Amino acid sequence: MSELNKIALKILSNNKGILAADESNGTMTKRLDSVNVPSNPENRLLFRETLFSAESMKNCIGGVILYDETIKQSSNSKKTIPELISSFGAVPGIKVDTGAKVLAGSTEEKITEGLDGLRERLQIYYKLGARFTKWRGVYNISDKYPSKLSINSNAHALARYSALVQECGMVPIVEPEVLMDGNHSAEICLEKTSEVIKKCFEEFMIHNIDLSGIILKPNMILGGTNSNKKISSEEVARLTLKCLKENVPSDVPGIAFLSGGQTEIEATENLNLINKYNDTNFIMTYSYGRALQQSALKFWSRDINNIDGTQKVFNHRANMCTLAAQGKWSVELEAK
Ligand code: 13P
Repeated sequence: MSELNKIALKILSNNKGILAADESNGTMTKRLDSVNVPSNPENRLLFRETLFSAESMKNCIGGVILYDETIKQSSNSKKTIPELISSFGAVPGIKVDTGAKVLAGSTEEKITEGLDGLRERLQIYYKLGARFTKWRGVYNISDKYPSKLSINSNAHALARYSALVQECGMVPIVEPEVLMDGNHSAEICLEKTSEVIKKCFEEFMIHNIDLSGIILKPNMILGGTNSNKKISSEEVARLTLKCLKENVPSDVPGIAFLSGGQTEIEATENLNLINKYNDTNFIMTYSYGRALQQSALKFWSRDINNIDGTQKVFNHRANMCTLAAQGKWSVELEAK
């Protein structure tokens, strides 16, 4: 077993999932604005440290994705944030892309940047305690999109990123996110997501990526948010499994889904059914941002010093997601 494979399994085993707390300062400011809390380094740290020291960190969370600001901050207990996360047995990770920018040649689409100077930044993050990383490519669906240019250039960037990360002894999370926005059907989402993922693995072959040392973070197969044809969670699970079985090589140890604007309950229920019907060798778990943090953020915003109460709300979500990672979640347990 390679060292990279060991790190991937440490993050994903025992039905654990990943807490994606890597919102950039811009995104975190939007989240805090929405609950009327001033966005400053102290408040961003207070909310995040509240989650990172919750009880469920021990049994539910295998890895935490951090943002550049947070990985350099220290907790109340004087531990650095990576030390705090490691003290619960979870692995600290770091978002290393510098965001999705307008794609020259197809200006309604995006290309994710951040390759320049990446090798040097990775070495710094490794010294700060990170053992895995994240890079998000983003694709939109319409009649013409995603274009071949967007599919090829984002796959190429994800492969170059993955090669650099593995060279530095860390596990790359590879996140090709096909957005939910639009009125497309789930069948179209299946077709486009399959094309995107297939191209990523073609590039990974060319760039000699050790597939046993990556984690794939895809979207689930869903109808567009404005689609008038709603599909059941059973159907989401069936189509998502079909997409992954057909396009992901079996050497990949695990798949950790993004929640991508689904409600907390939708993201949990869909993951639950994916696991109930999982007939692959892949570990299927969560790497949720909004679907793990939304209720906790709302609760916290009413009294930012109510640490215990906020942690209770977060613990419940993390416990529900971890049950879903075993196909053991139910509406009754959710309501308890
Ligand atoms: P969401 O679960 O809110 O989609 O966030 C996951 C993530 O890491 C996006 O890059």
